[in-house]
Amino acid sequence: MTKTTTPPDTLPAWRTLEALAAGGKRLDLLSLFQKDPDRHRRFALSVDGLLLDYSKNLIDETIFSALLELAEQSTLGHQRDALFNGDPINCSEQRAALHTALRGEREDGYRCGGQPLNEQISATLAEMATISGLVREGKWLGVTGKAVRDIVHIGIGGSVLGPQLACQALRPYRHPDLRVHFIANVDGEDVLNTLNQLDPERTLVIVASKTFTTQETLLNTRTTLHWLEQKLQRSGLVSSRQVIALTANRKNAEAFGIPSSQILTFDEWVGGRYSVWSCVGLTISISLGHERFTEMLGGARAMDRHFRSAPFAENMPVILALLGIWYRNFLDTTSVAIIPYCQRLSLLPSYLQQLDMESNGKSVSQSGETIAYQTGPVLWGQTGTNAQHTFFQLFHQSNHLIPLDLVAAVNEPESIDEHHRTLLANLLAQASALMTGNRNQPDLPAHLICPGNKPSNLLLLDALTPYHFGQVLALYEHKVFVQGAIWNINSYDQWGVELGKGIASDLLSGHDSDQDGESAPDPSTRQLLNHINRRTGLFKTP
Ligand code: F6P
Repeated sequence: MTKTTTPPDTLPAWRTLEALAAGGKRLDLLSLFQKDPDRHRRFALSVDGLLLDYSKNLIDETIFSALLELAEQSTLGHQRDALFNGDPINCSEQRAALHTALRGEREDGYRCGGQPLNEQISATLAEMATISGLVREGKWLGVTGKAVRDIVHIGIGGSVLGPQLACQALRPYRHPDLRVHFIANVDGEDVLNTLNQLDPERTLVIVASKTFTTQETLLNTRTTLHWLEQKLQRSGLVSSRQVIALTANRKNAEAFGIPSSQILTFDEWVGGRYSVWSCVGLTISISLGHERFTEMLGGARAMDRHFRSAPFAENMPVILALLGIWYRNFLDTTSVAIIPYCQRLSLLPSYLQQLDMESNGKSVSQSGETIAYQTGPVLWGQTGTNAQHTFFQLFHQSNHLIPLDLVAAVNEPESIDEHHRTLLANLLAQASALMTGNRNQPDLPAHLICPGNKPSNLLLLDALTPYHFGQVLALYEHKVFVQGAIWNINSYDQWGVELGKGIASDLLSGHDSDQDGESAPDPSTRQLLNHINRRTGLFKTP
């Protein structure tokens, strides 16, 4: 069982870090490099084709040692064991968080409730491989006998972000004749815009939903099926080979009308935002080939093994996490920006937003106490060089302190040397400019001054392959875990999302007979409902 966790702000190392940050006197990056010419080697870590250069952070040996001490003094080690042992670390739902098992091998010996998991996970992967192979070979036929060519993946949050990110990040590996589409938002214009691109005779509908109760996903699926049946002049397509469900709730999927033979399942101990490794990844397997999906799993497993075995001082997820704690809890930053200098990773910030903010956007401890210290940051971002032309101004000349993760692939065989050289030159230039500013230029007018001393991490992949992509996702999963463990919070539930869902359902079921918005939960919403009703009648009783 998980060892009782300790509030981090009671640990001696926390006190030390508070003292080191006291008075707001910040280290000067340029001076740190001038004092220690070897700094770029001291604060860098290479793991299996990834380089994390964390030398441009506002830390020195004393601070870094105190951060490592914090990790040692916390129960991180025990909680990491509990994670991999399948203990119910999701304490509010009494569930394990065994997404690592989905990419495990038999020798890893993953168990849940004493039951070995390898058999069932291998069976699901085999099912995925079979479907993927049939679709990719043109042997998965629609109801009119034509081979599938359009795959429409319907899901939201963790049921779409991972597959969509992976299909884009690894698009060089995609099957040339298959087109993959994603429907997530309940915005009907977007749904219809996607449907109108599909060939109904050659469309496979993949419905991904852990609960199979998500309002948006079920409505989007009903609309998609209605569209298909209209186009094909057929009914009952929900039980045809043109529909596959990916879920942890087989009963709900069957109640929706999808036959058991068309349902792939995963377990409750897979969190939605950690489900890309499960059958939710079927679309990835179809688009890229199951072998590539397996390589992605392999990269994530390699990162698991690194996280599990490397000493904290040489542990990439632990280092990333501790740096984030230094900024969040001791330098009082509020956000972290993820800037991939790689257009194929343009969805990485969105994916990491759910991973980080839905996991650690909490203010109650694992034992239910209200927390006084800061926890999960706001995470945001956009690709470079685009971001240089939108919000980098703020990084260079505002008073904000916003730590950045700059992510790039050193080799990009899909690009043109001149373009890749330009992309990487901008990446390096921005990190340098943020660190040095232009303070060394004398007599600059105030509006030209860039103070510099702005921190950044550089995460360089040898290349953006399925393996390295899997490593990066697992790296951030474990970074989030480490921060949640030290902050003594449950990173694996998300009760905060339920309140809004409930109000939306009330608004949708409580139609207004006399338009005065009596179904509204508050005066503001009532006024807004009336405004909308006067113009559209959308919420009026039919
Ligand atoms: O946002 C809440 C949430 O439950 C996420 O955690 C989840 O990824 C998403 O909604 C979709 O849920 P489901 O996979 O059950 O449709």
